[in-house]
Amino acid sequence: MQKPILIIGACGQIGTELTIELRNKYGSEKVVASDIREGSDALMASGPFELLDATNYAAIEDVVMHYEIDEVYLMAAMLSATAEKFPMRAWNLNMNSLFNVLNLAKENKISKIFWPSSIAVFGPNTPKENTAQSTIMEPSTVYGISKQSGERWCEYYYKKFGVDVRSVRYPGLISWKTMPGGGTTDYAVEIYHEALEKGAYQSFLDKDTKLPMMYMDDAIRATIQLMESPAEDLTVRSSYNLGSMSFTPQDVAESIKKHIPDFEISYAPDFRQKIADSWPSSIDDTLAKNDWGWKPEFDLDQTTHEMLTNLKKEG
Ligand SMILES: NC(=O)c1ccc[n+]([C@@H]2O[C@H](COP(=O)([O-])OP(=O)(O)OC[C@H]3O[C@@H](n4cnc5c(N)ncnc54)[C@H](O)[C@@H]3O)[C@@H](O)[C@H]2O)c1
Repeated sequence: MQKPILIIGACGQIGTELTIELRNKYGSEKVVASDIREGSDALMASGPFELLDATNYAAIEDVVMHYEIDEVYLMAAMLSATAEKFPMRAWNLNMNSLFNVLNLAKENKISKIFWPSSIAVFGPNTPKENTAQSTIMEPSTVYGISKQSGERWCEYYYKKFGVDVRSVRYPGLISWKTMPGGGTTDYAVEIYHEALEKGAYQSFLDKDTKLPMMYMDDAIRATIQLMESPAEDLTVRSSYNLGSMSFTPQDVAESIKKHIPDFEISYAPDFRQKIADSWPSSIDDTLAKNDWGWKPEFDLDQTTHEMLTNLKKEG
């Protein structure tokens, strides 16, 4: 029987779909959603919700005790592009929220944690193609520094205190249900919305900026698969490389043109170009494949088909 789960930051791009999928799988009452703001109607109607600040240890502890929570998924964070504008706020949120959850597990108040890292842990000196699990890691963004530090702390709490914390380095995620929350790969969601609304899109990344990306259904499946894996199968307690596809803004435009032949793309790189230039182009996720059977299902054309079909239905 699945014990109760708490999602912190449940109203964001990933949290919304993760919460609904976990509720479908384990039952609505087993999955408590929380955030500092209310979420979409679909999320709010699907089960219990608490207003909760991830930086407030006592408040999280109260919710954990009240619902007899056993597992926490910590999705609250400030993302890469926004974090460059508010460095100290990003550091405080990204680190303190993680310490709160790690310390709850250390105190045996919860028994399992999911905390997402990112391809932002890599930096400009990292080999770009087929980037290895362990390689040069010198992140040059506030967000990347917070994720790299978070990984070190996760591994430390696992080794020192036996905390069962699990993590993946998500690539840029593409979804139609919720808009992205201030990341460098947001263009790959916005482009589908504007293709349908305006038939044109101005990309804030240059045409040949190749980044690792993933369709949201694959990301949710990977997350739950990792959390359901036997602890003894896991050899990485910092964060697993997780791969799916890699593409450029031009590639997405070509894929969209197969459905909307008149679609036009233009390029006006802004401050996010520099962030993207510091990240890998493709990811070696052999360990995730070997340890817990990871296998992505969606390529770019399938993603384009899903995005355009679902957004059209919505709109
Ligand atoms: N979306 C991506 O492409 C991507 C890629 C790599 C890693 N990640 C990581 O996955 C996690 C979730 O990302 P996302 O894209 O869903 O982010 P998001 O910005 O869409 O959602 C984050 C949620 O956290 C909430 N939040 C902010 N401050 C909070 C606080 N103090 N207390 C409680 N909630 C708070 C926000 O209201 C928001 O609903 C983050 O750790 C992010 O770094 C995301």
